[in-house]
Amino acid sequence: MRLEDIDNLKSDYIVCECYEVSFGDIVEAIENGCDTVDSLMHETHAGYGCERCHSKLNDSDSDREVHLDEILEYTKLK
Ligand code: FES
Repeated sequence: MRLEDIDNLKSDYIVCECYEVSFGDIVEAIENGCDTVDSLMHETHAGYGCERCHSKLNDSDSDREVHLDEILEYTKLK
């Protein structure tokens, strides 16, 4: 997914399947001040399982639309 397309994701899209954390949950955590993958993990519990949702770098063969680091990168660009 291109970064500029992230806004088109539905808020209930599950970014982290291990802990069923949605895109909306991640955005809310960022709006509440999370600005690193670690702080998102702490706030939402996303990423504490298989860790594949952290970055495309460790999730290259999945069809996950977006990863925690990409959401952070995009929100910093806005
Ligand atoms: S998909 Fe997020 S930890 Fe497994």
